[in-house]
Amino acid sequence: MIEQTRIWSAVALLTVVTIACQAAPAPSERVDASRETGARAVAELGSATGVLGAAASAESHATLEAMRVLEEGGSAVDAAITLGFALAVTYPNAGNLGGGGFFLYRSPEGESWYLDFREVAPLAATLEMYLDEEGDPDRKASTRGWKAAGVPGSVFGMWEAHQRWGSLPWARLIQPAIELAEYGFEISFAEAAALNRLKSAFSEDAYAASVFVRSDGRPWIQRDVLRQPALASTLSAIATEGESALREGSIVRAIVAASQEGGGVLAMEDFAEYEPIIRPVHTIAWHDMEVLTITPPSSGSLFLGQTLPVLEEFPLAQWGWRDPRTVQLIGEAEAAAFRDRNRWLGDPASMEFSWIDLLDPSYLGQRALALDPELYTSPDEDLPMPPFESTETTHYSVLDAQGGAVAVTTTLNSSYGAKVMAPGGFLMNNEMDDFAALPGHANQYGLVQSEANAVIAGRRPLSSMSPVIVVKNGKVDSVIGSPGGPTILTTVLQVLLNRYTFEMAPEDAVAAPRFHRQDRPPTLRYEAGRLGRPTLQALQALGQPLAEIRSLGDVNAIFRDGSEWVAVADSRRGGLGQVAVIGSDG
Ligand code: DON
Repeated sequence: MIEQTRIWSAVALLTVVTIACQAAPAPSERVDASRETGARAVAELGSATGVLGAAASAESHATLEAMRVLEEGGSAVDAAITLGFALAVTYPNAGNLGGGGFFLYRSPEGESWYLDFREVAPLAATLEMYLDEEGDPDRKASTRGWKAAGVPGSVFGMWEAHQRWGSLPWARLIQPAIELAEYGFEISFAEAAALNRLKSAFSEDAYAASVFVRSDGRPWIQRDVLRQPALASTLSAIATEGESALREGSIVRAIVAASQEGGGVLAMEDFAEYEPIIRPVHTIAWHDMEVLTITPPSSGSLFLGQTLPVLEEFPLAQWGWRDPRTVQLIGEAEAAAFRDRNRWLGDPASMEFSWIDLLDPSYLGQRALALDPELYTSPDEDLPMPPFESTETTHYSVLDAQGGAVAVTTTLNSSYGAKVMAPGGFLMNNEMDDFAALPGHANQYGLVQSEANAVIAGRRPLSSMSPVIVVKNGKVDSVIGSPGGPTILTTVLQVLLNRYTFEMAPEDAVAAPRFHRQDRPPTLRYEAGRLGRPTLQALQALGQPLAEIRSLGDVNAIFRDGSEWVAVADSRRGGLGQVAVIGSDG
């Protein structure tokens, strides 16, 4: 019987905060969700005074609601569902009902599952829909407004997860999101700044303006309360009717009408026919561990399945993480993996070959032989570097007392998606830009992709989202993921290397400076001021083009650290990681 729960905070220097195990407080008395970036607990999972669970996400109210579900005896899947719906309210730039994502689950019994709830191209989508009159890609059409939206999968995905693996009642899991939307919550400094920055974009859409533009005309400030009554009523319908609230009926009819009016192509059948899909998990044997990764339409398996074994062939640990040889080699391995990703991958339903051949040991062995830490390889063709910074998408990690673990990455694609709001009070994605609008031409992330990822009705666009779970000696050792468009792949790779090759402490593995290369453009982007001048000068001397970027990724992860569990929310964006412990022995 759980009498008391303790939350340990590394940031608060191991001060113990005790919260009673009781019903969630009314929104007005909700815990002031401070922005802790790490939390530690010393205990084993599930023992008499063990770890009750852990959660890390980009937004503190959402993490706290997930912790309450774990405190009530909910599973990691239950807590992840609550977290996902709460983020749709409290983190509207990426949390969503109008988007999609990937759900990776390892059960306490050691089975692993990958649930794909990515958006699909509407049934009326065509190859030419994002080309202008000259036949060139029309970036605005694939990124702004209703035409940019794929059929959203999030509600169907959460429903499927609950049907398969959930234990607490569905309505209980959505209740916190309903209350957060109905009564409101205090927004963060970053949220206020983002809403102010996008005021003119939101003003173009009546529904978005009614929620995100203040009626008194003044700018948003930190701690203003954001209320979303229309979203609360949609969430209530989902709580009582289940996924059918978004399969048919008045909410869907209103969405379809708004889409048609706004130049989009969504139809009733798109919602009726959407299917979340269970797909194969790909396990990579690495060091003495198993890295569970997800397969197409995610490029996680291919990217990590190539880079981890190739980099194993070099003495990175001996060189050290900041050594120019290490940085250059990782960059080269990343670029080579992106070449294959962009050339070959897409929706598996339309891939004409077995992508797994690209992980063939002899193929990767040749690649390792061709890589040289003192060589810069330029792509066949250069490209201007897109200006994007990773400010969208979100990843959350959850662990329960039984050892069940969930890693979810979910997105609207761009920040606040297509900047149009469905009449049900939620923003729509612009995931259609993840397709190659014109194969051979770059999308907003500078990714030059192939026919395998062309726009075809019913297809899912290729994704970089890459949640992973690491298993050691048959037990979960870490749960990791990040936003960042293509930089998701390099961020997840670098956190794995930091933790397991360079043997950094969990907080350091997340905090360490990151850098990114993809195939084209060939620039190595590095976090401003963090890589060190000597390293940068050495890379420059090799001819490696370099560019600064403010920050890369936002990792929300859980790690085993000896006998401790650590939940780390990346300080780059300031989320909340928490670990709760059963018992009172402190
Ligand atoms: O699925 C993908 O690869 C992209 N839609 C992810 C977008 C993203 O991470 C945006 N940035 N943070």
